[in-house]
This record gives sequence, C-alpha cells and structure tokens, in this order.
Amino acid sequence: MTQKLNKIYLEEVVSTNSFLLQEDRPNTICYSFNQIGGRGRHQSKWNFEKGKDIAFSISFNKATINQSIEEINLKTIISLLQLLDNLNINAQFKIPNDIYINGKKISGILIEHLDNQNQIVIGIGLNINSTNHGEFNSTSTFLETNVEVNLNDIVGDLTNILIKNMNKDIPGLATLVSNQNFLLNKKVSYAGNDVTVGHINDNFEISLTYPNGEIKQVKLLDFTTKYKGENNGT
Ligand code: BTN
Repeated sequence: MTQKLNKIYLEEVVSTNSFLLQEDRPNTICYSFNQIGGRGRHQSKWNFEKGKDIAFSISFNKATINQSIEEINLKTIISLLQLLDNLNINAQFKIPNDIYINGKKISGILIEHLDNQNQIVIGIGLNINSTNHGEFNSTSTFLETNVEVNLNDIVGDLTNILIKNMNKDIPGLATLVSNQNFLLNKKVSYAGNDVTVGHINDNFEISLTYPNGEIKQVKLLDFTTKYKGENNGT
C-alpha cells in the first residue's frame, strides 16, 4: 500500500474532513492550524485555538487499505498514543475514539466515508499549544508538559507514524490499545446493567463482567452505542 501522498496545507479551513470529502482523492493529507468549523461525532463541534492546534485529515483508498473501520480506528488510536508517548505524555484511549490524559480530552478522531467514493477519511483533532479551552473538559500537550512544540514537526511525525502503522499488521493490536483503555477495570452502565470493563480482543469485542460473575464479549460498536459512562465511585 506504499503510495505517494499529496499534502495540502490550508491557511484556514472550515473542516479538513469536509475539504477532503468534497472530492474523491485517496492518499491525500489535508491539514490546517486554523480550522473554523471542525466537526466531531454526533454533529458535535470541535473546539480549536487558531495557530495553536492541529486539524489533520488523511484519505486512503478503501480497497487498497483493505481493513475494517475498527482496525483503522485502533491503528489511529495507537498512532496517537505513540506520538504523545514521544512527547513524554502517557495518554489513554477512551472508547470509541478519543484520547484522554488524566480525564481530559486531548484528541478526537472522526472517520468518514461516502458510499459513492473510493476514499476513507481519517480526521484527527489534536490540541497542541492551546491554553484556552473555555468550558471544554480538555487539555493540550503544552498544558501537560509546559513545552511548546512546532506544529509542522508534529504534523510530520503524525504522518510518519500513521502511515507506518496503516501499512503493517500489528499483532495483538487490540490488546495493546486495550491496556491503555481509560475504562479498563472501571464499572459502567451498559444496556441498563452495571458491568466491569475488561479487555478488547482481536475480533474488536470488549469483555464485560456482570455483577453475577457472568462474562460477555460485546462488539465494540454495540458497547459504544449502549454504554452510559462511568458509575460514581469507581
Ligand atoms: C470527536 O471528538 O468527536 C472527533 C473530533 C474530530 C475533529 C477532527 S479535526 C480534523 C477533522 N476535521 C473535522 O472537521 N473533524 C476532524
């Protein structure tokens, strides 16, 4: 799947994901440090501090990449965890596709594809040097380390890590990510039951332990739609 990538830097953009989705152009990176209408999952807005944060989208050819959305999602997560680890930040993944540090969000992922297009677009919002997060329960690499970093360097590193991970088989990918699951061993409410969250397996199922000791493997997607957050005191 080694292919030349087109790289588009935009001084200002409404949304880097929307920009790439306008045209079916696999193998393109679009990024900006001034995204004014960033989108998150469920029609949410993605907060952004001009010149301080990164909006990054990359498109792959669906057929060539030939991986499930779940695998692409976990590979994106592991890439972000590695990127942050390189900045000496120990982050965690929060189901389905957020990156958290000490309970605060630092990065969000939005994967999109249209039926009539060959491309799949992975969008990543990454808080880097921002300090003004308003009412959002979020953080940035600067707030975590007190070190300002060069946004272009981070875009380069992120690109390299992502491409490397997308191009290879990662044995035990689910377990690797699972170890950094924010909800691991926590009690949550799932479909009206109090369950304890366990590991994710290679079939993208998460293990849930019920109060009576019963253990069920549930598809991550199903868990995502039916879980209601952590229970108090856990
Ligand atoms: C979420 O937390 O719900 C996902 C947020 C994804 C934000 C990124 S920023 C780059 C790309 N362009 C967008 O409009 N959204 C994604």
